[in-house]
Amino acid sequence: MAKTPINIGMVGYGFMGRAHSNAWRRVPNFFDTGYEPVLKAVAARDAEKARAFADQWGYESVETDWRKLVERDDIDAIDICTPNDTHAEIAIAAAEKGKMILCEKPLARDAKEAAPMVAAVEKAGVANTVWYNYRRIPAVTLIKQVVASGKLGKIFHYRANFLQDWTISPDVPQGGPGTWRLDAAAAGSGVTGDLLAHCIDTAIWINGSIASLTAMTETFVKERQHALTGKTEKVGIDDAAAVICRYANGALGTFESTRYARGHKALYTLEVNGEHGSFAWDLHDMNRVQWFDHSVPGELRGWTDIHVTDGEHPYLGKWWVPGLIIGYEHSFVHQAADFLEGLKSDTPTSPTFREALETTRVCDAILESARTQKWVGIG
Ligand SMILES: NC(=O)c1ccc[n+]([C@@H]2O[C@H](COP(=O)([O-])OP(=O)(O)OC[C@H]3O[C@@H](n4cnc5c(N)ncnc54)[C@H](O)[C@@H]3O)[C@@H](O)[C@H]2O)c1
Repeated sequence: MAKTPINIGMVGYGFMGRAHSNAWRRVPNFFDTGYEPVLKAVAARDAEKARAFADQWGYESVETDWRKLVERDDIDAIDICTPNDTHAEIAIAAAEKGKMILCEKPLARDAKEAAPMVAAVEKAGVANTVWYNYRRIPAVTLIKQVVASGKLGKIFHYRANFLQDWTISPDVPQGGPGTWRLDAAAAGSGVTGDLLAHCIDTAIWINGSIASLTAMTETFVKERQHALTGKTEKVGIDDAAAVICRYANGALGTFESTRYARGHKALYTLEVNGEHGSFAWDLHDMNRVQWFDHSVPGELRGWTDIHVTDGEHPYLGKWWVPGLIIGYEHSFVHQAADFLEGLKSDTPTSPTFREALETTRVCDAILESARTQKWVGIG
């Protein structure tokens, strides 16, 4: 049966522009959603680079202003892959034009900026989702499914870390292409919105809402040269954050994120401890999950290393044969597939903008607590 075309308009051609383009191209080959994503246009400010990107990935056309892309009648969905300070303006304009919107995380720089985005998509009634892609790594999805089944019983702890080391040198600039993440004006925050947001999204998804928290943050390098102005300017982002929290279900949580953990490049780990069992997962070994089942007789009881590659595991039936692994990029293919499935069944694809706003509110609370040195409730 002929598939329904869905015309994608991509904004930005950096890291995520590549990850999403790959996802849109792969998804119809592996998932029968009934939709055929068409790479209709990519928008970026540099025409030559945008054209080169379009040629590499098979986009039909190029725009040098995202506003023109949003105006086009032949675009069904706007995919936002630009720095955080641009998300709100693009998403609100796209919603007003009735486009479906897939937005990179974090939804915006803070909740004040994100709330009108939620209002805009809900008023327009357009499909929307935020690319919190780690949910769609099969091992992580498996944890969610087993916790939701109640097999772990009461949950006591959910903890996560996301550790990197790429900004230790004071010579790394802030602002501009490649280093906008170090510029508070562009990013909103440092590791909190960039890395902890992933941990928090997954935590809320698996263990429910965070009720209150207290946090500390640090900016180890206080001044950096700005790549655009050439001037040495005060650094406004958090380089590291440590959080303790209470979940609405009574569990306790701890989170740590930093770009100063020498030796760690992208160490996202999470652990959940329940009455009857525990899970532990590590991005560096993302096809495996560690599982402890307390119901197993004592002499055989212990941590089990599950290779999450079986056809019965989430998403894996669509890929290769049991035992063969998949990678980081597949999490984006899965999110694109879920979005298209959602269109087919008229079901919102989680996290929607509204759901992602909760994560942004937790990020805001982390920064507020670090500033005030007080516990902050998330109402
Ligand atoms: N889901 C994930 O795991 C993940 C990973 C990395 C980044 N992200 C998020 O994706 C977004 C983009 O990050 P990235 O790593 O791809 O950044 P990047 O710097 O690699 O790419 C950003 C792109 O946006 C373009 N751009 C900037 N301002 C623009 C404007 N006004 N109009 C059009 N294009 C513009 C740049 O030219 C570049 O092509 C951020 O919000 C980031 O937080 C998410």
